[in-house]
Amino acid sequence: GISKAVDGVSFTVDQGRSIGLVGESGCGKSTLVKGIIRVLAGNGIIAGGSVRFEGNDLTQMTESSIRNIRWKDLSLIPQAAMDSLNPVYPVIDSFLEILMLKGKLNRAEATKRAHELFTMVGLDTKRLRYYPHEFSGGMKQRAMIALALALNPKLIIADEPVTALDVIVQNQVLRVLKNLKKELGLTLVMITHDISVVAETCDDVAVMYAGKIVEIGPVSRVLKNSTHPYTMGLANAFPNLKKTEGT
Ligand SMILES: Nc1ncnc2c1ncn2[C@@H]1O[C@H](COP(=O)(O)OP(=O)(O)OP(=O)(O)O)[C@@H](O)[C@H]1O
Ligand SMILES: [Mg+2]
Repeated sequence: GISKAVDGVSFTVDQGRSIGLVGESGCGKSTLVKGIIRVLAGNGIIAGGSVRFEGNDLTQMTESSIRNIRWKDLSLIPQAAMDSLNPVYPVIDSFLEILMLKGKLNRAEATKRAHELFTMVGLDTKRLRYYPHEFSGGMKQRAMIALALALNPKLIIADEPVTALDVIVQNQVLRVLKNLKKELGLTLVMITHDISVVAETCDDVAVMYAGKIVEIGPVSRVLKNSTHPYTMGLANAFPNLKKTEGT
């Protein structure tokens, strides 16, 4: 039968701003962002509503026009980022494909840009020639982030982009995203379970529960004066390093 994984969700992100999507596992976050960029699984449909991006309704676009703006204008860092690189080609081939086919760069320019992107996310450019299976999980995740940034998209939708990274690299990657936001006016929609990532990276936060947004607003307000039990739980689950035990 039909099941609504996302129902009546509505939010706006202005250019150069960022919104964090949080909510318990299975509440519909990934389905929502896959719907926005139109990469739902074969059994999923967008039954109604609209997704407005620069004046166009993405839900109404033809498959070929949406394919034209993916990577270039909006790109998705999928939740399964680690398994999204083509296993039978060296990683650099994925970069060359996007940069040459979509970005219309020649091979030399594309190779240079691939090196630049690898450096940006803290990966050794030597590794561009490696196959995905020769990367660690976190390295693959960083490579996917670099790939999503390849053509300087205006909007990046990131589904748990830093979960497999240790806190130091996580910080480095978040800083890259924050800088792009500041310098190029990048707009960011980020799903995460980590409330500290939201606090550090996002202007607004939307809390989803069972397919709906139950709370939305500026991060400082939502985290300080949460009204939904899930938000309260999330905010309280975050240890206060300054407090000593028993206080
Ligand atoms: N291809 C699919 N076929 C059937 N049900 C699906 C499919 N993809 C997702 N669902 C269901 O839709 C609901 C929302 O899933 P979704 O992946 O959007 O959750 P999520 O909020 O991203 O969770 P998580 O935090 O664990 O990633 C779940 O009940 C899930 O079982
Ligand atoms: Mg998900």
